[in-house]
Amino acid sequence: MYVCSCFGVTEEQVRAHAAAGACTPRQIAATSGAGTDCGSCVRRIQGLLGRPCPRRTPQTAPAAAPATAPEPDPRPAPLTATL
Ligand code: FES
Repeated sequence: MYVCSCFGVTEEQVRAHAAAGACTPRQIAATSGAGTDCGSCVRRIQGLLGRPCPRRTPQTAPAAAPATAPEPDPRPAPLTATL
C-alpha cells in the first residue's frame, strides 16, 4: 500500500529503509523523497517507524566529579591582639 502518493513510496519501502537504519521521517525523505512534497504522509511514516530513534533516547547523566578538598584560603590570617 502506498504511504506517499506524491513519490509512490510504499509501506514496504519505508519498512525497508527503517530496517536499514532510518529512524526519522527526515531520514526516510532523504532516501526516498517521501514527505517532501505535500507532507501529508509524514505522520503515517512516523507511525510506521513507531519507535524512538536510538540517538534520541535519553543519555545517562555523566558521573559526578570526584569530591576534592576545599582550596586553602590564600588571605593572611587576621591579626588578633592579646592583652
Ligand atoms: S503524500 Fe508524501 S509528500 Fe505528498
